[in-house]
Amino acid sequence: MPSTDTQAIDQLRSRLEAVNQTHLLAFAGQLEADDLQQLLSQIETAEPQTFPELVKTYVTSKPVAELPAGVEPAPYYALDGDWDRAKFRKAGEDLLRAGKVACFTVAGGQGSRLGYNGPKGCYPAAPISGKPLFQLFAESIRKASSLYGKPIPWAIMTSDLNHEATVEFFEQHQYFGLDPKDVSFFPQGSMPAFDRKTGRALLASPSSLALTPDGHGGSIRALHRSGTLDALRARGIEHLSYFQVDNATVKPVDPLFLGLHVAAPDSSAEMSSKMVAKAYAEEKVGLFCKINGRTAVVEYSDMPMQRQQETNTDGSLKFNGGSIAIHAMSLDFLSRVATNPDYALPFHRADKKVAFCDPDADGRCVTPDEPNAVKLEMFVFDALPLAERSIVLETDRVEEFAPIKNAEGNDSPETSKALQIERAARWLEARGVRIPRDSQNEVIATIEISPLTATDPSHLEGVDLPEEIEPGSEVAL
Ligand code: UTP
Repeated sequence: MPSTDTQAIDQLRSRLEAVNQTHLLAFAGQLEADDLQQLLSQIETAEPQTFPELVKTYVTSKPVAELPAGVEPAPYYALDGDWDRAKFRKAGEDLLRAGKVACFTVAGGQGSRLGYNGPKGCYPAAPISGKPLFQLFAESIRKASSLYGKPIPWAIMTSDLNHEATVEFFEQHQYFGLDPKDVSFFPQGSMPAFDRKTGRALLASPSSLALTPDGHGGSIRALHRSGTLDALRARGIEHLSYFQVDNATVKPVDPLFLGLHVAAPDSSAEMSSKMVAKAYAEEKVGLFCKINGRTAVVEYSDMPMQRQQETNTDGSLKFNGGSIAIHAMSLDFLSRVATNPDYALPFHRADKKVAFCDPDADGRCVTPDEPNAVKLEMFVFDALPLAERSIVLETDRVEEFAPIKNAEGNDSPETSKALQIERAARWLEARGVRIPRDSQNEVIATIEISPLTATDPSHLEGVDLPEEIEPGSEVAL
């Protein structure tokens, strides 16, 4: 082994000694040069100096999520509320015409529940054309660019596992008609998995750490570290429209929401959110709350059921605001959260089975039967309370929330397609088209409206529409 390598190992070993993690170098002396470099660089990137605090806070003790006493439902701009939509829509349109908005999709998840072999954004989601999720978003962005006369850059966060496949997919499909210079990709960061008893970071092999994705909240520091924030700022972008890769009916570009975000008196234009009314008290969604005057999302598992069931005098749920993971964020706010330690997002602990290479047993690979490790993830909504004043806009589930999470049942491709069809049917009914429905009011035809045709019912004005759709027929517009 060259003496420079020995020196590098020795230097790192003394730093690891200080944090009780020297086992990470147990096999370093036996590694080939490339493998050694990989190990050393992974350890450096993981910032071992931060491990003792992480282990103390999240691994050897379990953080207890205590709900503060003064937690209240967050106020929101209600669908049926009396507020000036035209004014805020105009503010959003002005922002778009000035070219100050980019889209941002988090697509680094593993999609294990769906079980699809490939990045989730490549999943065929549309009911007739089978357009993949990425294409639906790309076409919505193209439509908005042509409406507002400015390119809308699109940043996509991938993971090390799906980065190449994602970029290749866009290349194979000529970026779905977008200019490649407007689309950027960067992989998200990762966190080491820690042994839940000892707090030692686990090795996946003699030359690599057991790393797990750092969650959608990791997107904020990844935006910064990848240089994406700087690149967008250099293009004059001031705000991002954030959404997840799994929502087939998301509006990637919504002038009303962007307008409220930048111009509402109760918004500091840092981070804003959309919500849908909860379907029923026990629904498993994050809840928009006010805590100490700040907007926050409380996970359903952290809110006692009794409180989730509280009602107003008219019988409606008090904690009614369900999070659908759609946000608008300013670049200034994102930079601050990414770089200022006072704004660091907390981690959430998950106990998992993680296979590891055991330095105490000559590197034997162990596949545990029980959860042996703690995985740490950040959640993007934890940034909300860092914003001084943060608004929530209510939206209609059928209009904007058709997620694909599971292979079957709730939030599956089937339910997403049904919602896409229902939305298309409503848009057509609003234009006077007769839609066949059964006794349950379900649409009994397959209808798809391309985002290039309309991303809003008003875009159907002037489009040649049938008077009526036949039961059982397929209609793509
Ligand atoms: P989910 O919580 O649905 O997780 O992610 P997932 O990994 O996609 O799916 P499962 O749980 O394995 O079935 C919500 C959104 O956040 C993104 C996902 O790509 C999805 O858009 N995400 C999640 C990331 O980008 N990175 C992560 O580390 C986790």
